[in-house]
Amino acid sequence: MIRTHKCNQIGIDSVGQEVSVTGWVHRRRDHGGVIFLDIRDENGMVQVVYNPEFKEAFSLAESCRNEYVIFSKGVVRERPEGTINDNLETGKIEVVASDLLILNSSLPMPFQLDEYTSVGEDTRLKYRFLDLRRSDMQENLRLRSKVSATLRSYLDQKEFVEIETPLLTKATPEGARDYLVPSRTYPGQFFALPQSPQLFKQTLMASGFEKYFQFARCFRDEDLRADRQPEFTQLDIELSFVTAEEVISLITELITEVFKETLSVDLDDFPKISYKEAISKYGTDKPDLRNPLELIEVKELFKECEFKVFKEPANDVDSRIAALRVPNGEILTRKQIDDYTDFVGNYGAKGLAYIRVEDPSKGKDGLQSPIIKFIEDSILETLLSNLNVQKGDIIFFGAGKSNVVNDSLSALRDLIAKDLNLLKCEWAPCWVVDFPMFEKNKNGDLTPLHHPFTSPTCSVEELKKDPLSALTNAYDIVLNGTELGGGSVRIHDKDMQQTVLNLLNIEDKEAEEKFGFLISALQHGCPPHAGLAIGFDRMIMLMTGAESIRDVIAFPKTQTASCMLTDAPGKAADDQLQELHIRFHGIEKEE
Ligand code: AMO
Ligand code: AMP
Repeated sequence: MIRTHKCNQIGIDSVGQEVSVTGWVHRRRDHGGVIFLDIRDENGMVQVVYNPEFKEAFSLAESCRNEYVIFSKGVVRERPEGTINDNLETGKIEVVASDLLILNSSLPMPFQLDEYTSVGEDTRLKYRFLDLRRSDMQENLRLRSKVSATLRSYLDQKEFVEIETPLLTKATPEGARDYLVPSRTYPGQFFALPQSPQLFKQTLMASGFEKYFQFARCFRDEDLRADRQPEFTQLDIELSFVTAEEVISLITELITEVFKETLSVDLDDFPKISYKEAISKYGTDKPDLRNPLELIEVKELFKECEFKVFKEPANDVDSRIAALRVPNGEILTRKQIDDYTDFVGNYGAKGLAYIRVEDPSKGKDGLQSPIIKFIEDSILETLLSNLNVQKGDIIFFGAGKSNVVNDSLSALRDLIAKDLNLLKCEWAPCWVVDFPMFEKNKNGDLTPLHHPFTSPTCSVEELKKDPLSALTNAYDIVLNGTELGGGSVRIHDKDMQQTVLNLLNIEDKEAEEKFGFLISALQHGCPPHAGLAIGFDRMIMLMTGAESIRDVIAFPKTQTASCMLTDAPGKAADDQLQELHIRFHGIEKEE
């Protein structure tokens, strides 16, 4: 019972040979007197024919059902005229079987592999071992493996050292909630699973490793979306004695190489955009540069305007008025515009003003819009000339608090590009640079745009004086509107580190408790260093074109952070809880 061929290896040149294959019954067809089994293994599929002439094999084939595991032997022949299947690699031949052995049976399938879309994702996740048999999933995980091998080999050639850092550790402040693990040996105390290896990789720089990398498992208890998992993988990188520029060019080369090697895609241009420009032109720091549409700031024009919807934001420092000109947008129907108005409402926008440019040569009469009657002629004229409007354009306007306008119009920009098929290329990477160090949160407190170990470009004194104006040496790599990775030059000076922590209301005592080891390392000859982490799952998601990050992870969690396959999380036994000194408070413990 030794297989001679993988299913896909049997071709026209095997005609006349005796071959044996193993695999799963993908499909069984009974053509009254002849049975066809499509046998599938990890490489492909082949059609095997069973005639009553070989009695035993024929009757076993009759009893086979989908997903039975079998061994079969027979002679290869050309398929008769009219039965050639051009969609199948082995579609010109079939195997006429003399033997069949059933290696294992299968219960009826909860869903047919070809019909997975007919069941909900929960069923696919519950029977993940079946879902992973599908060729799409197999291809995704194989690409994932190939990409990680390519990345490792590239970094190895560049003399990076792969070092593993602990999973049972202390909290790392990356902005999410921690997953905690109770300690048995220290009653009442907890490990935190790392949100990233940030503190350890910086410590490794202090230890004299000048080029580190790791495929690091990270844990973040945060609201999940299509591109987020509570447990995910980063390609984590750190180097000593380098500038931001050097990290950017290393990673540009790395990503270019991986796309070339694994997808045969040439990523030729990685433009650099400042954070300020990205927000102004695209309303987001993760712009999709495949999309040609841009936001144009028109706030200045409306300072004296009588139209209240525009006048108020025009005179408020925290507001903006942005225009989104859509060439040929005249094809959008009234219903689509109403839908877009509802859509931006989801982001907090109070409305969506628009102007249709039917014939610019006719001035105001060539426009159609619910707002032009409120706008003075001179302002309107300057507006149209600044926007360089063309016949057939539609211009949308967002007015209000800057964050609402940015969130709503950046989402609208993506949606319109999708609806009108505007994307001008397949891949558009870019770097976003010159991030501010801090922003204010809802409570008016400073929070870091990256993490508190990011180095500002100014001095300690300047930072203390005006923290909101400080820029950093941070950089994000963005691909097709998704943040693929981010990093920065780090603070390697204790005074700067303490200043940043103090500005975040983390006093010295708390800093000592939380990251004392890092601060100590900074004081014992820590070199200047910089690095970045790439979201490995997200990168594979983009490379495979998968709609969800779950489709590139073998055993992912659901949107509510549970595992349908294993049923995790689960309850702990009483004796385990006792050992961990845990008693429930406020939740009924079920018997
Ligand atoms: P950051 O928090 O930006 O930086 O994370 C780096 C990249 O990891 C990916 N990512 C995620 N992927 C899936 N699910 C998640 N929940 C998730 N959260 C983040 C993103 C992101 O760009 N220590 C720093 C890096 C550094 O400064 O070197 C860090 O973790 O693609
Ligand atoms: P209203 O005065 O609320 O009837 O609005 C007049 C027009 O301005 C309508 O077309 C609204 O969709 C639009 N509009 C209202 N609020 C905003 C806003 N914050 N941003 C952009 N357009 C708006």
